[in-house]
Amino acid sequence: MTEELRERYSKEIERASDHFENLVVEQLARVERMKKDDNWIDYSKIKPIIIGVVGGDGIGPHICREARRVLEFLLQKEVEDGKVVFRDIEGLTIENRAKVGKAIPDEILEELKKCHLILKGPTTTPRKGDPWPNIESANVAMRRELDLFANVRPVKVPELGIDWVFFRENTEGAYVLGPKGIMVTDDLAFDFKVITRQGAERIIRLAFDYARKNNINKVTVVTKANVVKTTDGLFLSVAEEVAKEYPEVEWDDWYVDIMSAKLIDPARRSQFRVIVLPNLYGDILTDEAAQIQGGVGTAGAANIGKRYAMFEAIHGSAPRMVQEGRAKYADPSSMIKAAAMLLRHAGFVDKAERLEKALDICAIYERRVVVTGRSDGATGEEFANYVMETLKDPELEKKWENYAKK
Ligand code: IPM
Ligand code: MG
Repeated sequence: MTEELRERYSKEIERASDHFENLVVEQLARVERMKKDDNWIDYSKIKPIIIGVVGGDGIGPHICREARRVLEFLLQKEVEDGKVVFRDIEGLTIENRAKVGKAIPDEILEELKKCHLILKGPTTTPRKGDPWPNIESANVAMRRELDLFANVRPVKVPELGIDWVFFRENTEGAYVLGPKGIMVTDDLAFDFKVITRQGAERIIRLAFDYARKNNINKVTVVTKANVVKTTDGLFLSVAEEVAKEYPEVEWDDWYVDIMSAKLIDPARRSQFRVIVLPNLYGDILTDEAAQIQGGVGTAGAANIGKRYAMFEAIHGSAPRMVQEGRAKYADPSSMIKAAAMLLRHAGFVDKAERLEKALDICAIYERRVVVTGRSDGATGEEFANYVMETLKDPELEKKWENYAKK
């Protein structure tokens, strides 16, 4: 039987083998690049720090504009002193991307590479059946092109005792060869998942470092290593190795299926603190976690690499809201949260903390201006104004502490 198949499909098998060979070479090259351990960028030594603002599409430009206004408000002095400049990067829209058939048009990628930090609105990801060509996601391409290997997604629900920070691996796993699967015959489809020792190590180390620096005594590693033995198995064994260097940090490991259950288990969930996991599991669990916090519209994400960092909402571009004329009612909280993460990452820690507290007051505690996504709620602009007013309040810290104590 197999000999007969080998003969019948000899062309297809050869094509698949060649395809695989090319992927192996490409990934070996990526490993070599990762081995050249670059240094982390030091923002305190850079002048000016260039913040690129990319609106994206759908509701992206609307919520991104509001986050940018808040950032400019907080960085007014730094802009005046020439320490920070904002730069608009236009054109990362689905229409433009479709026109050139690329996830990120070349000239936009070039512009992005001239920045240090990027604030990015959601970008539409085409899928089968859309009017758009089925090009790769701009997010995924940007993460790969700028080597933004850590997707850091905090989720906090104080009244449920939830204080999680997810460290989602962002450049490999099921994503790195996402558009490079192969239909061997009309009946047989393959996709590929890749984990490398270097890729696993850098994200796991970042998670443990974060735990150590913030006096958090718990890291949880999530895989499906009982079934996906080779790649997830490597991720887990790298975690075992790295954990040895952090004897003061306790760690445990869970499979992704039971982990998704435990996130909604009131008896267990408050014990999780720092969670590190491969790309696709991180994608899925962080949507679940964000929903517990109040929806994906409430969560922001940092995409961090050694040279570049990009800050975004975790949700999509919501084209339906635009079609229905509701774009101005879109909730900018996720992008403003991303802006706070940008400030913290760039070393403006006090400003980041003030913004986080103002957001807690506006979106969780006081809620004087409420965005619902519809015309019965406030506009994103009104909400951003509310955040800035709250930031101006000299009693902000006190106010926040009073609420947080309750
Ligand atoms: C996210 C999004 C993206 C992802 C999509 C838009 C490609 O869901 O940032 O979580 O899967 O990473
Ligand atoms: Mg997602």
